[in-house]
Amino acid sequence: MDHHQHEQQQQGLGEALGRLRSAMAPEAVARAERLGRINRAYVRTGRDKQLAAAFDSLVESALASESGQSSKRRALFVVGDSGSGKTTAIQKHISERREFDAWVAEDGEVVRPLVSFEAPKPLTLKLLATKALEAIGYKLHGHIQENQAWDLLKRQLRERRVLFLHIDEMQHVIRGNKEAAIQNLADTVKSLLQIPGWPLHVIFSGVPSLAKFLRHETQLRNRSLVVRFDPLAFPEHATLVRACAGRIIESDAGLKAEGVLEDEVLHRLIHASEGAFGTLIQFVRAAAEDMLRSGGDAVTPASFARAYRLLTGCPDSQNVFLVADWLSVEPANALASLIEEYDRSQEGSR
Ligand SMILES: Nc1ncnc2c1ncn2[C@@H]1O[C@H](COP(=O)(O)OP(=O)(O)OP(=O)(O)O)[C@@H](O)[C@H]1O
Ligand SMILES: [Mg+2]
Repeated sequence: MDHHQHEQQQQGLGEALGRLRSAMAPEAVARAERLGRINRAYVRTGRDKQLAAAFDSLVESALASESGQSSKRRALFVVGDSGSGKTTAIQKHISERREFDAWVAEDGEVVRPLVSFEAPKPLTLKLLATKALEAIGYKLHGHIQENQAWDLLKRQLRERRVLFLHIDEMQHVIRGNKEAAIQNLADTVKSLLQIPGWPLHVIFSGVPSLAKFLRHETQLRNRSLVVRFDPLAFPEHATLVRACAGRIIESDAGLKAEGVLEDEVLHRLIHASEGAFGTLIQFVRAAAEDMLRSGGDAVTPASFARAYRLLTGCPDSQNVFLVADWLSVEPANALASLIEEYDRSQEGSR
């Protein structure tokens, strides 16, 4: 999207939201503003230090090419389950680092040193190259062959002075792709890290199946850094979760935390979010939102139960915050009873 299109879109959004606001009650408008602030708050943990160190390493390696040679490790893999917070963390770090700020070159072109995009699905080598070309701002016209697309991409990366790429959802590589195709992709990725005279560094993020890509690829492994976003567990992460939940409820939402920072509730919270840090944050925010909406001033275990129902659609008998044997509840099955009912009704109608 160019600058003009972006401006137009922003203007359109402004108008649409203005309309929405004018139809809403003043309390709802005030709540929406408060929720916007709560949702924007970024929660920092030890993972951020690891990620920052990995970014330091990439950035310094890129500059090292000037005085000698870049590091051999020019790729960073960020791997974690869905909802663990990979995309949020990477985008946050990118936005905070001055090294990635856009700048204007002598010829008047706006240069973006880092370009981020999502891997296409299904992932083919050709689609990956064309998606990357599009992301760096190159408009493709007509048909192009796979190897031409990759050559063009390498030239365009240099021409547009892109030093870093971030490719999210890179696990699309693994799903369904045959061994030979994966090998091909690994070779292409390696060639991206070895563009003659251009020290491109690449960040790949995805769910743990992405690690498979690395496992069989010694050469690629030797060219990579890896940051894992491991699942949260109880009791190991109880202190961390208490601090995060307390901060969201008390500082971000300005509410009291009543009986929700105790070990058992924290354990239920970790279980409910299947150990995914981002999902856990979303549960805590939803519980705070529930309280804001009902006009109360304290988040309680009952707020968590309501939030869980809203976010998963489960019946009370499967609600991790309500039942006694909650450890045997599988959060992934929250919709199971609905599906069973549907299946039964289908059988009945047959
Ligand atoms: N550090 C954080 N601070 C605040 N909120 C966060 C943080 N990390 C994640 N979140 C919240 O959790 C949600 C899910 O995180 P995110 O989408 O980054 O996960 P992901 O690992 O990229 O998942 P997926 O593999 O499904 O893409 C985000 O939309 C955001 O609301
Ligand atoms: Mg993501």
